[in-house]
Amino acid sequence: MLSVLDIASQKQVLAKKGSMGEKPFSLAGLKYPEVFQEILTCDSEMLRIFQHVEKFAETDNSVLIWGESGSGKELIARAIHMISKRKDNNFIAVNAGSFADDLFTSEFFGHERGSFTGAVKDKKGFLEEADGGTLFLDEIGELSLPIQVKLLRVLQEEEFYRLGSTHNVKIDVRIVAATNKNLFDEIKRGKFRKDLFFRLNINAIHLPPLRERQGDVQFLAEHFLSEFTKQYKKSIERISAPVMKLLKNYSFPGNVRELMNLINSAIVVESGKELRKDSLPSYFLDQCRVQPEVLFNGQKLKSLQEVEKDHIRMVLEHTNHNKTVSAKILGISRVSLISKVKKYELEK
Ligand SMILES: Nc1ncnc2c1ncn2[C@@H]1O[C@H](COP(=O)(O)OP(=O)(O)OP(=O)(O)O)[C@@H](O)[C@H]1O
Ligand SMILES: [Mg+2]
Repeated sequence: MLSVLDIASQKQVLAKKGSMGEKPFSLAGLKYPEVFQEILTCDSEMLRIFQHVEKFAETDNSVLIWGESGSGKELIARAIHMISKRKDNNFIAVNAGSFADDLFTSEFFGHERGSFTGAVKDKKGFLEEADGGTLFLDEIGELSLPIQVKLLRVLQEEEFYRLGSTHNVKIDVRIVAATNKNLFDEIKRGKFRKDLFFRLNINAIHLPPLRERQGDVQFLAEHFLSEFTKQYKKSIERISAPVMKLLKNYSFPGNVRELMNLINSAIVVESGKELRKDSLPSYFLDQCRVQPEVLFNGQKLKSLQEVEKDHIRMVLEHTNHNKTVSAKILGISRVSLISKVKKYELEK
């Protein structure tokens, strides 16, 4: 007899095979497939990432998730928690960008009654709430430098003081952080502390943007079509070919969240059996008119300079920044390489 999970993953395989007409994508090779059921994808790179997530999750290391807004960082953080030995304790998600410094300190560390005007009773902070569990710090790149210092101290000492208290509190928290900023750039600009970065980036996960996931725009669009059609009790059966073409060629800066909202809004508007262009929001149609030629198969077409920069970066990483060896591989002089490294800000 098939378990619920078997049926769910069979459905996923069939759905993906059906919609893509390509080789089936399956979560079957994973150790914890049930944890990834909600993260819909048919992209092989995402499957590879799930395998890494499983390995990282079993350790108690800090994990840093890199990815654009709406690309699913929080879903991955939850998956890490669900796999980890901490799964029966709290998962506390905090958006680091949404607090001013003072508020962050009192919310993060908690406070004692009377420690500031308005502190009418003792309050546990996020750190204590997450004790024994996982603290997910989203938009870590938004934390101010003084708060970064405080956070690093807690991570190193595994204890802290509530605001207004002289008693230290011991905690056992796993940190999963996420960023949509390039933290290497933030470190260069003096906005992010290197020591905190290395403490957080022990295991790194890079989530690709939706536009780079093979087949996912169509797969997810069809999934959201069926979800919202049910939710709004409509009888829309398919997405028209011109709409699918526009979707596939769009860059989706807001990633899966943007695609989901777009289909949601279009379903509300559409009254026929097919989702047509006329039902799409005008911001989207305007964007499609502005940059139709910049994308090819949903991928942003890079300028020659961008390609050169990416390639030099890759070679430097491969040679551990050995300029002599890198210049040889690239077929240019060492002097010329040094000038390009400077131009593209690729110094280690
Ligand atoms: N692969 C996916 N399958 C289904 N839903 C997804 C997927 N990826 C993201 N979503 C949905 O898109 C929304 C955004 O996802 P999430 O909050 O995880 O993104 P994020 O990277 O943390 O975004 P932000 O940078 O804005 O915090 C959520 O509603 C989430 O459920
Ligand atoms: Mg998020």
